[in-house]
Amino acid sequence: MKEIKVAMLGFGGIAKSHKRAYELFEKEGTPIKLVAICDIDPEQFTKVQEINLGAAHPYSMDGIATYTDLNEMLSREDFEMVDICLPSYLHKEYTIRMLEAGKHVMCEKPMALCEADCKEMIEAAQKHGKKLMIGQCLRFEPQYLYLKKLIDNNTFGKVRYVNMSRISALPLWGFERWFQDTERSGGCAMDLHIHDVDMIRFLFGEPESVSAVAVDSITRWQYINSRFFYDGFVAEATGSWLEPQGHPFKAGYRVNFEHATVVLEGSEITVYSEDGSSYKAEYGKANRMAEEIRLLAKTITEPDAVNTVNTPESAASTVALVEALRRSADLCGAKIDL
Ligand SMILES: NC(=O)c1ccc[n+]([C@@H]2O[C@H](COP(=O)([O-])OP(=O)(O)OC[C@H]3O[C@@H](n4cnc5c(N)ncnc54)[C@H](O)[C@@H]3O)[C@@H](O)[C@H]2O)c1
Repeated sequence: MKEIKVAMLGFGGIAKSHKRAYELFEKEGTPIKLVAICDIDPEQFTKVQEINLGAAHPYSMDGIATYTDLNEMLSREDFEMVDICLPSYLHKEYTIRMLEAGKHVMCEKPMALCEADCKEMIEAAQKHGKKLMIGQCLRFEPQYLYLKKLIDNNTFGKVRYVNMSRISALPLWGFERWFQDTERSGGCAMDLHIHDVDMIRFLFGEPESVSAVAVDSITRWQYINSRFFYDGFVAEATGSWLEPQGHPFKAGYRVNFEHATVVLEGSEITVYSEDGSSYKAEYGKANRMAEEIRLLAKTITEPDAVNTVNTPESAASTVALVEALRRSADLCGAKIDL
């Protein structure tokens, strides 16, 4: 693969996990090189930030140019791809700006805060002939790919119900308290719950209808319980930012098939078989952020490589589905046909 140079935009909580991916590339000898980072807060270049996924690892900034001014970074640095880890309300503006500047874009989830904005981002990528990928990173997580394989291979027969959850306290670490402001974060529904909404679409396609109930607190939709109606089964997912501070981040799934129940709890997947036995599944390990960046880089450097896993069109549909779920919650759980 031809070398690809990357700059990051925003170096807060999640960006430090992305940084780990670039360190992995360097260790492996994969030619995807982080050359510069821009964040308007220079303290972020040395900060060890605790987020709900844990504290940032110790990292080195050796060989990486740092900027607090994007225009200066654009004029001084030579890079083809930008990795946007800005707060969600800035995704549309900066994605379009970077595409206009001739860069390929990896942008964190949610793609934007409404479907209309997502469409503008897709149009900008098409207009400027650049690649765009959204960090719906569970699509690259082995714990979920294991489940996808069981479903695609019909290993345990038909799915009868699905239950997913993603639960934490309200994030307090963000830039200017943006997570606490529904206008800037979209609430737990658009920020955290969106991972399970996207995964349900990834596994099963579009539902026929959806419904949701929610609890508002500091933000709107700070707790949301959603149902996705498919032909023959129902999937359910819960997202919460309503837990007390100190409550650990917890995420997992329970999927009931005709011949087994498969449960992800913590980092352990247990398969409960219909004969009464159970076993821990082997699912391999991968850095999901590294895998998404690797795929985008491949589609940039190899003319025949296509991103079929995680298209921007699909990320936009996931945002639209979250909007439908929030509408249902605002109507006390009314069923919305899609
Ligand atoms: N994939 C995941 O699992 C996951 C997990 C957490 C967060 N996220 C997403 O990542 C994004 C960032 O979240 P976070 O937790 O890192 O937020 P954060 O507030 O910790 O980080 C944002 C950073 O952007 C910087 N910034 C703000 N405005 C800027 C500007 N105009 N130019 C340059 N820098 C600017 C801030 O100083 C801050 O360092 C959000 O969209 C969030 O939803 C994804």
